Amino acid sequence: MDLLELCTSAGMRVVREMIARIAVTDAAVLLTGESGVGKEVVARAIHRASPRAAGQFLKVNCAALPGELLESELFGHARGAFTGADRDKPGKFEQARRGTILLDEIGEVPLRLQAKLLHVLQDGECMRVGGERALENDVRVLAATNRDLEADIRTGRFREDLYYRLNVIEVRIPPLRERRDEIPALLDFFLKAANAQFGATLAMSPATRQLFVEQPWPGNIRELENAVKRAVVLGSVDLGRPERASVRPGASIGPAATAAESHPGLKDIARKAARDAERMVIAQTLERVHWNRAKAARILQISYKALLYKISDCELTSPVVRSDGAALSA
Ligand SMILES: Nc1ncnc2c1ncn2[C@@H]1O[C@H](COP(=O)(O)OP(=O)(O)OP(=O)(O)O)[C@@H](O)[C@H]1O
Ligand SMILES: [Mg+2]
Repeated sequence: MDLLELCTSAGMRVVREMIARIAVTDAAVLLTGESGVGKEVVARAIHRASPRAAGQFLKVNCAALPGELLESELFGHARGAFTGADRDKPGKFEQARRGTILLDEIGEVPLRLQAKLLHVLQDGECMRVGGERALENDVRVLAATNRDLEADIRTGRFREDLYYRLNVIEVRIPPLRERRDEIPALLDFFLKAANAQFGATLAMSPATRQLFVEQPWPGNIRELENAVKRAVVLGSVDLGRPERASVRPGASIGPAATAAESHPGLKDIARKAARDAERMVIAQTLERVHWNRAKAARILQISYKALLYKISDCELTSPVVRSDGAALSA
């Protein structure tokens, strides 16, 4: 299935149209966007829609290897080129011939290797480390980063000439919070996949789905996917990472408090778990709407009065409020 079918927002429609137009060319493409937005998914879509689809798609994570190893990974090496190089080894540029290479986390390539990469792209040929013969390089180059490369150019961390080589076309993939209208379809997709993967049958109420739509999702689609998996595995939805909820220091939540009680009955455990879950969801909702209680009550589908009661009952405290009334946190 084409994952991008689920991306129906205005922002992603632009991306999909760009993919269709640039796939037929051999132009270098720079994919930018926050972590987890789907840069790799888009890169694969470009490859699949291109005349190179029959060739290989190879990804190299430029952040995973130190400079020397990355160089040999990309360009290969000749036997005896360095200690441990006991045989000739082709690089990814060679292996991806007639296909596409994705240079992931391009912003992490060390400066020295940036110079070599620039030459390879300019000359259309590359040489294995310690090799003698230049090899024609017939590869479509895609690069991805979540760094601000223009800022890196200003600080001397990234070569400007390489930037322009790689960035013939830039495709910016918007963060999930700018395309919340895709969340319901993504939610269904991940829920179905996770239920199948774990042999579960978790369903979500409209209120829970609404909570998913309203989360800030700093980790984007990857975070959403993981949250759904976690819910399926645990058998219930807990959007709370404890560190995200504004919980008063010293307030007791979670298993630690349970362990301290001696032999609590099953009913007590259930009551406490329900209360903890409620507290977590309320805290997160309040945080998300910057403690606008009326809005939080609407989202949680309880009355304003009931929310005030619960806030006091759960001992939740609002963040520091400035003299002009604006909350300082979030
Ligand atoms: N349109 C989509 N439909 C379904 N799943 C998606 C979609 N886009 C991304 N994903 C999933 O979200 C996760 C993150 O996607 P991807 O690895 O492409 O992000 P990324 O931008 O490369 O992130 P990073 O910067 O962290 O490498 C993957 O598991 C991917 O399968
Ligand atoms: Mg990636």
